[in-house]
Amino acid sequence: MNKKLLSLVLVAALAMSLLAGCGAKDDGKTTTAAPAGDTTTAAAGDETEAAGTTAAPAEGEDTTTAAAAAGNTTGETIKVGYAQVGHESDWRTANTKNYQDVFSAANGYALSFVDCDNDNAAQLEAVRGFIQQELDYIVIAPIETAGWDTVLQEAQDAGIPVIIADREIDAPDTLYDAWVGTNTKNEGITAANWLAEYLDGKEANILVIEGSVGASATLGRTEGFNEVAAEHSEWKILDSQSGDFTQAGGQEVMESFIKSYEGQFNVVVCQNDNEAYGAMDAMKAANITYGVDGDVILISYDATHDGLQYTLDGAINCNVECNPIQAETVAGVIQAMATGGSYEKTTLVEDQAFVAPGITSEYATTMTQEILDGRAY
Ligand code: AHR
Repeated sequence: MNKKLLSLVLVAALAMSLLAGCGAKDDGKTTTAAPAGDTTTAAAGDETEAAGTTAAPAEGEDTTTAAAAAGNTTGETIKVGYAQVGHESDWRTANTKNYQDVFSAANGYALSFVDCDNDNAAQLEAVRGFIQQELDYIVIAPIETAGWDTVLQEAQDAGIPVIIADREIDAPDTLYDAWVGTNTKNEGITAANWLAEYLDGKEANILVIEGSVGASATLGRTEGFNEVAAEHSEWKILDSQSGDFTQAGGQEVMESFIKSYEGQFNVVVCQNDNEAYGAMDAMKAANITYGVDGDVILISYDATHDGLQYTLDGAINCNVECNPIQAETVAGVIQAMATGGSYEKTTLVEDQAFVAPGITSEYATTMTQEILDGRAY
């Protein structure tokens, strides 16, 4: 290769690595902003099937991220409305902060943020408010999958592009412009695949503390987990109840499970970290041991900082990530829309899973202090 050609190749390689780095957190994980043309992967060892509702990526569909840059380059302030689910979990707090950081005035945005407090009616009202205010873009993290057609049609009639984020909806994809989120069915599959690997044919009597009723994160994780569970005749799901993605909900459900099933279960699956904290409190109070040295295998989802601390400590055996850092990707889509660039209809934010020290897995990474130190949320 001659010198000129070599320097051209090096410049191209540098540009590509800068693009790939934009938007990624400094914890070593690929998060949101892959270079155009790439296909992100879901949780380790899993299939890439959609989570049962319409907005998730279909099997084999390209899940390329849109654009790397989060900053507004149009020269005019872009008005964005974000109808957030609520403040039920540490995951949600991290996701809110991510949006407030990315869609800041300094980055060229005016963000109208509404915390809908897990209330569907309030969320529809928030979206209608954004339409009335004639905002430039509307972002919705839908509380439930159902009930979106009318308000999405109203946004479309008003000519305001809508991006569905985090969770999925059960509506025709002609009613919104883009979707950004994680594949929660794959999260469920990963949890169950890990459990099968860990148990290696031993019996499982499982209690599930589900997330909020009607939320795609609940539906997807339940569907994925149950699909694998159905392949294991030695597993029995004793009960499955909603803890509403909250610590109080997790504790309450676990207390009632203990009353009904004490001595009969050896696996507890909590569909987010906050529920796991509540379940741990309930088990502790009942002198039930859990985690790597306990009688009960504890599985959680989200892999937020505190959840990973418990995983590093061995109290949670396996923690399947749901990545809340999505605002950079959403901003990339909005930038592409605002500047007439190309963007993907569906962008999958990558997840991974973590297991307690002493466990090795084909489906998850063994926790270390270094991983925890790199986890900002
Ligand atoms: O939709 C993502 C889920 O919602 C997270 O798992 C949970 O913690 C949150 O409340």
